[in-house]
Amino acid sequence: MERRDFIRTNCLACLGWSTILTTLTGCISAYYAKQVDFKQNNLIVKKSEFVEIKKDKKIIRNVIVAKYEKLGFPIALFRLGEEQYSAVYLECTHQGNEVQPHGDYLVCEGHGSEFDNKGKVTQGPAEKPLRTFMVKTDQENIYIDLS
Ligand code: FES
Repeated sequence: MERRDFIRTNCLACLGWSTILTTLTGCISAYYAKQVDFKQNNLIVKKSEFVEIKKDKKIIRNVIVAKYEKLGFPIALFRLGEEQYSAVYLECTHQGNEVQPHGDYLVCEGHGSEFDNKGKVTQGPAEKPLRTFMVKTDQENIYIDLS
């Protein structure tokens, strides 16, 4: 194989792998809480929803999504610390598309706005922060106050 063919073949292979990896990374979707209850104007999510067991190892998710049929959009629930959470409504303030969690931040596929884990705009075109909700906890649950 000539040097030029070798370089061309290997560059195409590298390009292919990087495209696949980029696509797979983009496809990793957020975990949706299996059980979301509604009581006295609160969405109730079990803290255990943040726990994932992988190969006998306990992993704590940094974000889960709570969906409730009476809300137009889901809510991202970020774990900020041991007993600290933020609840961010996933309706983009730019033109109303659904915002998606990507690790520790949120992205709107509509026009590329980005928000931090407290709903603050980090990249436009959106100018206003996402709606957020008060959050309380007890031993077992997280309560998202919708009032
Ligand atoms: S609707 Fe979200 S950036 Fe435009």
